[in-house]
Amino acid sequence: MAKSIGVLISGRGSNMMALAEAARQPGCPYRIALVASDKPEAPGLAWAQHNGLATFALSPRGMPKADYEAAIDVALRNAGVEAIALAGYMRLLSDEFVARWRGQIVNIHPSLLPLYKGLDTHARALAAGDAEAGCSVHLVTEELDGGEVLGQARVPVLAGDTPDLLATRVLAAEHQLYPRVLSEWLSR
Ligand code: GRF
Repeated sequence: MAKSIGVLISGRGSNMMALAEAARQPGCPYRIALVASDKPEAPGLAWAQHNGLATFALSPRGMPKADYEAAIDVALRNAGVEAIALAGYMRLLSDEFVARWRGQIVNIHPSLLPLYKGLDTHARALAAGDAEAGCSVHLVTEELDGGEVLGQARVPVLAGDTPDLLATRVLAAEHQLYPRVLSEWLSR
């Protein structure tokens, strides 16, 4: 039986779209039970609604973080979610939330971890003169971008690359990598 996953997004949600596209293929080991966002205006949320996916949006503004996360937790559990895929979710999850879902949260990060945890990964790869960049799918632990790496894709750095050009090329690799690695991980 396909596992029910919840996808957390904050923005355009192109990785969520790639996950949703793969979920439509026969034999995919997961189905998206909920797309949730901390940004009610996130473009990806509108796309999810338009494409028949269940959605949940809650802005944490003016709320204690614990209350906000409790509401997300209830929404995920009510939807029957068994594992969470972070896809451009720009908010740090508390240690308590991570502990409640221990070993059941994955994230996609736009660097070849353990290189360049955190933000501005492409600018940092270019500044370092790296010949390759890429992306990683990893387990989420209390350490930012620090959990076990489940899979990576490599992308060459080209002459004349800017952070934006590199980001576009890495993003295309993310869309291939995330559904594949998520499926492999859920099938373990
Ligand atoms: C991606 O680059 C992802 O690796 C990072 O945030 C970006 C999200 O893009 N975590 P999108 O919202 O999936 O289009």
